[in-house]
Amino acid sequence: MSNPSLLILAGDGIGPEVMAQVTRIIDWFGDKRGLKFDVSEDLVGGAAYDAHGVALHDDTMAKAQEVDAVLLGAVGGPAYDDLDFSLKPERGLLRLRKEMDLFANLRPAQCFDALAEFSSLKTDIVSGLDIMIVRELTSGSYFGEPRGIHMEDNMRVGINTQRYTEAEIDRVARSAFELARRRNNKVCSMEKANVMESGILWRDVVTEVHQADYADVELSHMYADNGAMQLVRAPKQFDVIVTDNLFGDILSDCAAMLTGSLGMLPSASLGAPMENGRPKAMYEPVHGSAPDITGQGKANPSACILSFAMALRYSFDQGVEADRLEAAVEKVLADGIRTADLMQADGGTPVSTTQMGDAVLAALEASL
Ligand code: NAI
Ligand code: MG
Repeated sequence: MSNPSLLILAGDGIGPEVMAQVTRIIDWFGDKRGLKFDVSEDLVGGAAYDAHGVALHDDTMAKAQEVDAVLLGAVGGPAYDDLDFSLKPERGLLRLRKEMDLFANLRPAQCFDALAEFSSLKTDIVSGLDIMIVRELTSGSYFGEPRGIHMEDNMRVGINTQRYTEAEIDRVARSAFELARRRNNKVCSMEKANVMESGILWRDVVTEVHQADYADVELSHMYADNGAMQLVRAPKQFDVIVTDNLFGDILSDCAAMLTGSLGMLPSASLGAPMENGRPKAMYEPVHGSAPDITGQGKANPSACILSFAMALRYSFDQGVEADRLEAAVEKVLADGIRTADLMQADGGTPVSTTQMGDAVLAALEASL
């Protein structure tokens, strides 16, 4: 049987810098754990625009459809800010999500004890926090028709439409329930069924899927505004949260900040199962291309490394190896090894991107 395949799209800014560390880690798993991947690399975002005049070449898109998982760094930067909307680096990302139909966006918010001090909340409220937000990614208000700005009675009117079909709700609900079974068997679904019909349908379909196929999972429902309050008041009450595209955008950013640093946050975007049973998948750090620190060796590679850990878990069924990699990152932090973004003003000397990679590799070695 051939090795599982990975397409690396490092992108722009610090994307290639953090991805270089992930590549070393992929090689380590090949050498030391017998987990060989067929790795190919290609361009996305500004890098693709420079080479081809588009943020994602058709050939790259075709490759992304064929591989078992895509690993993406980051896209964008000041050099591309004045480009037409249709050419912007972000369009490369959006095209990947849309054409691969990656409807479930998994955003973990996990608080590493060593970093609890970086949270804006009290340590006891966040220490040990480990929740997963599942955001519907391909429908809802960001895509619904009608949309646009038009004139009505001599006034401009702006319209976006929150539209969900039951099939769209059904599939993302299933993703959340499946995930819950691998974690702590608990899902909280968030919408605004009190004021939105799409929210009523959301609640009904989630309840139906639950009763039909996932009655073993504990399900609760919450209005999304209360959910925002509860996330800040007592986040540890949650395990898996499932919600729509718009609320998920906001709630996942809110939950992310409970944990302190952008440089630590991975994500996964999953679609329907392929013929080999693996879901279509793309893994990427939450952060952007960080032009302010590009080329300085300051970027924290952890978010990208933890994104690869998610790939091990969700695309390749290597939960034990994913745990090993996450534990290695946690060990490095516990040992006080920090990139600059994880240091308080008086915190001592930060390590470089490469040194952080070295430390994670050393912790992986020590785990054998
Ligand atoms: P950003 O996430 O790139 O940076 C925000 C701040 O966090 C900066 O001060 C940056 O130095 C810091 N930071 C981010 N990642 C870090 C890491 N791994 N290690 C250490 N520090 C880190 O967001 P910003 O500045 O709003 O956007 C910069 C560019 O990135 C823009 O062109 C934007 O469009 C693009 N972007 C791309 C995303 C993606 O590729 N998924 C997501 C967000 C923004
Ligand atoms: Mg957002």
